[in-house]
Order: sequence, then C-alpha cells, then structure tokens
Amino acid sequence: MMKIIVKENYEDLSKEAARVIKREMQKKPNLVLGLATGSTPIGLYKELIRRHKEGLSFSQITTFNLDEYFGLDSSHSQSYHFYMQKNLFDHIDIKPKNIHIPDGTVKDVKRYCAEYEEIIKRVGGIDLQILGIGSNGHIGFNEPGSLFTSRTHLTKLTESTIKDNARFFEKKEDVPRFAITMGIQTILEAKKIILLASGQNKADAVAKSIEGQITSQVPASILQKHPNSIFILDKAAASQLK
Ligand code: F6R
Repeated sequence: MMKIIVKENYEDLSKEAARVIKREMQKKPNLVLGLATGSTPIGLYKELIRRHKEGLSFSQITTFNLDEYFGLDSSHSQSYHFYMQKNLFDHIDIKPKNIHIPDGTVKDVKRYCAEYEEIIKRVGGIDLQILGIGSNGHIGFNEPGSLFTSRTHLTKLTESTIKDNARFFEKKEDVPRFAITMGIQTILEAKKIILLASGQNKADAVAKSIEGQITSQVPASILQKHPNSIFILDKAAASQLK
C-alpha cells in the first residue's frame, strides 16, 4: 500500500519525515536506516540534528547510503561521503563503524557491490529507507530503464541527471558520469520506504510514479508494489496528482 502525505511546504515535509524516523527509532533503537543525499533531505537532516540536540540519540542506529559518485573520494566536496558528514553525521552521535556509504574509489567494483549487499543482509536488512526522486523518476541512481531486479551496482548517469546535478559542480563537465548505487531490488527489500519530493520540477515524476503504469521507464513507479511505502510531498510536488 502506498500512502501519500501532502504538506504545505518544504519545512513541514521535512518535519513530517523526521517524525516518522523518530517514531521508528523509538520502536527500534538499533534501527537500520537507509539514507539519500541531494537537496531534498537537507531539511530532514537539519530537523534530525535539532532533535538530537533535544536528546534523541543515534548511537545504536546503522545507516546505509543509497549511492556515491564513482571516482570521487570521500574528501571531495561533492562526494556523498562529504555531504553526509557535513549535513548529518558530524552533528549527531552515530558510531562511525555503523555508517555505510558506497566507496566510489574501489578497484574491484563487482566484488565491492556484492559485499555491500552482504553487509545489509548481515544486519538484518534495511528497516526504513529514505528516498528522493529524480525529475526523470529515478530512485537512488537507478535511471529509467533499470531492471527492477537490480542490486548494488555501477551505473551510468543519464544526461538528464548530469544536467540536474550540474548545479553542485563548477561546470557540467565536472559531474561524474558513473555512480555506485543500491539496485531497485535492494531498495524494495527495505521494510518501510519514505520517498520525499519537493517542488514543481518533481511534479511530473511524482504523478507518473503514483498514478501511472508500473514501468521501468519510471523507476519510482515500482513503489506501488511495495507493502509499506509513504510519499511525503509538498504542494508543488503534488500539483499534478489527480
Ligand atoms: C541521492 C539519490 C537521488 C536523489 C534524486 C533527487 O542519494 O539517490 O536519487 O534523491 O536525484 O535529488 P534532489 O533531492 O537533489 O532533487
């Protein structure tokens, strides 16, 4: 069952997502949390940091990030390692050994990806996965056309994603062409999924994902089949829903 929550604005969306995470952490302090990067979850991470200052502890949770650019090491200011430290991990009491982010510098990518899957299994699977959505409907870096059965793998970014993400780099040519991402099957195995979308430029992808056919051309549409997924949207992102 897909649940849709529409909030007035980005701030309310971020607060709602933080509330869900807190609730899950209260049920299970050693929650296994899947995390996303990009612009969308920044407000959520701010809210989690605020709640940490008020006493919420992350000392028992384990995290797995969805993806990382291939070829950027963790000190690169646009790497997702750097992003996670700066926007969340530096400000909460999570144990470094419990943090997992795909390593974009590995040599044996295939083996590395299989190990990433193995570690997720070993901790009992992801309890709650946070997702954003690309303007082309991608989840993680599973671009349109990706197999629903895919697991963690190296993938080529589409032109549309490179264009969308160029805003974070000095020039478009600097955006990495490849990334390591959890696969769609990896994501679907999370017990609960929250997809966050904010802004008009996500409205088309959101409407197709919720009301359209399930198709690999819109990767997020497969979430219609997930038993426990929640879309938390702001009004602009929900504006094309019927
Ligand atoms: C990031 C990720 C991507 C983003 C998506 C939306 O870890 O997996 O799927 O969630 O590209 O990005 P923003 O939030 O920047 O619009």
